Amino acid sequence: MRVGKMYNDRMKTLIFGGAFDPPHKEHVAMCNAAMQQLGADRLVLVPTYLPRHKSEGLLDFDVRAELAYAAFGGRAEVDRIERERGGDNFSYLVLPLLKQKYGDIIYLIGGDSLEFMPTWRHTEKIVEVCPIAVAARKGYADVEGQIARVKSMYGGTFLPVNFVGEDVSSSTIKAELLLGGSPTALPESVLSAIREKRLFENYADMLNKLKGFESEELFAHSKAVVMRAVDFNSKHNLAQSFEKVFLAALLHDNAKQRPSVDGLDVPSDCIGTPVLHQFLGAEKARRDFGVDDEDILNAIRYHTTAKADMTLFERLIYTADSLSDDRTYDPIPALREIAKEDFEAGFVATLRHTYEKLLAKGKGIYPLTVEAYKFYCKP
Ligand SMILES: [Fe+2]
Ligand SMILES: [Fe+2]
Repeated sequence: MRVGKMYNDRMKTLIFGGAFDPPHKEHVAMCNAAMQQLGADRLVLVPTYLPRHKSEGLLDFDVRAELAYAAFGGRAEVDRIERERGGDNFSYLVLPLLKQKYGDIIYLIGGDSLEFMPTWRHTEKIVEVCPIAVAARKGYADVEGQIARVKSMYGGTFLPVNFVGEDVSSSTIKAELLLGGSPTALPESVLSAIREKRLFENYADMLNKLKGFESEELFAHSKAVVMRAVDFNSKHNLAQSFEKVFLAALLHDNAKQRPSVDGLDVPSDCIGTPVLHQFLGAEKARRDFGVDDEDILNAIRYHTTAKADMTLFERLIYTADSLSDDRTYDPIPALREIAKEDFEAGFVATLRHTYEKLLAKGKGIYPLTVEAYKFYCKP
């Protein structure tokens, strides 16, 4: 005997899984396009549940499920199967259960996921369960080619969905929310649910404190550096911790407009120079904002001069600061484009530009910058 909700097996159901952290307009637009083109009758959203390697910064499962429901204005069902199972939610295990429950199902994935399908667990079992619909995303134009490649390896039925969406990233949305903004990529319903539940207010006190230390212009710059750093991190899959990137970028200039050394430990040769604020910034981030993570402190400590042999995290904050979107003067926009294409090339081009600019000014160049230039820019 079947217990619970009965489903009409003749209905065609589109299954769409995701973290929904938070759900955004691209999710909605992509599902709408797929529903229409595939003639599906029902949309079922399956929020992911990752108890063992819970990615940092994920909202609670229940909150994400609620936001996903809100995003679609109630026109989709939300299935909590991953939460109910608790673990081992690989597609090859979950999809057969969804098929049992909903009957005729189609599994919708984005073109960016298709690329990684050969790395999924038991891809050969997944393609046997149901047809897989693939929606392209900006930057993943060759969906047909990818489909042919995966099909030649595993067989299965693939249904291309004609949808080229905008490249929206959940992490830049999260960063904007944490900075107190209202991301245009969020449906109104999601934004109001976020406000009502007072989500993403984690850094409100820190932002207020920082505002007290920075002019309006500098504070706007700090926020722009956060957005640039988070964007590079996500677009280039640099895999740096979202929270660390957020904090280092936000606080990098916290000492810029309060240069009193206060007995803190800074190199004596930087006192009275523009470079002071990086060393002092690290010390004041620790003292005034309670930051004790060495990666964050070092990224702040070298964000102006750079140095030889930097970590990826340090290079990220350095580059994001130099190329933040509030810098509209030449040649920054062109360097920014290079870094958007190729992060490392952008970093090196930025360092080279800075070094040559300082050289042309004819004043002394801080030794760390000379070492950085030798390390990264000399053939
Ligand atoms: Fe700075
Ligand atoms: Fe800065």
